[in-house]
Amino acid sequence: MAGLAVNVDHVATLREARKASYPDPVSAAVLAELAGADGIVVHLREDRRHIQDRDVKIIRKVVQTKLILEMASTSEMVGVALDIKPELVTLVPEKREEITTEGGLDLVVHSNAVAETVATLQHDGIPVSIFIDPDPEQIKLAHKIDASMVEIHTGAFCDAPTARRRDRAFSRIVDAVKIAHRLRLGINAGHGLCYNTIKAFKGLSEIDEFSIGHSIISRAVFTGMEKAVKDMLALIKEL
Ligand code: PXP
Repeated sequence: MAGLAVNVDHVATLREARKASYPDPVSAAVLAELAGADGIVVHLREDRRHIQDRDVKIIRKVVQTKLILEMASTSEMVGVALDIKPELVTLVPEKREEITTEGGLDLVVHSNAVAETVATLQHDGIPVSIFIDPDPEQIKLAHKIDASMVEIHTGAFCDAPTARRRDRAFSRIVDAVKIAHRLRLGINAGHGLCYNTIKAFKGLSEIDEFSIGHSIISRAVFTGMEKAVKDMLALIKEL
């Protein structure tokens, strides 16, 4: 069964909307773990728009499963990762003006710089996953620069406006998963996944873990964190 890593950034988004001390993503992380999450994800952005340095430090201390640090491939963030020592770093592209991470890291363009970050972190014992679009060329480059894992961007599939485009986007994901599996890369998947779109992944057993944030935190507003996480875990169990 694939794992579920819960991204708690959006709890911090709500807190930062008022610059208040609550709701605390640390509490969300603890509740997600108690509900059965296999890991906790935080994205420390350069502009600190949601997750703050303090959140990462405390979550590092309280998390019992694993901490996955999403970050840009910059020297500042490499310093944070070497200090925090998450169980996994996921490298993502970052633009200040985007609402959320828009596309995968383009390894055709950034392969040299990303390779250096991968080598630095993995040399220190921190495995690195690269968030990339479901594109065979990107997967092969991730393998070439020796990343431990890839996280396949599921956004185009989740946001597709028509059934036809959704089907095409999903077959790109399937092809990418098969190639990554043949190359013996670890495989995560995420972005935009919700309680409906997750069902499409039935039978795609090569995926190690799903990384899901917005849909779980949104449901948690009404049902509480425990039920929101358990509902998603139940769907993943059916895949
Ligand atoms: N994976 C990556 C690399 C992301 O950047 C995000 C969004 O922060 C997610 C997964 C989770 O996406 P969502 O919040 O849409 O579930």
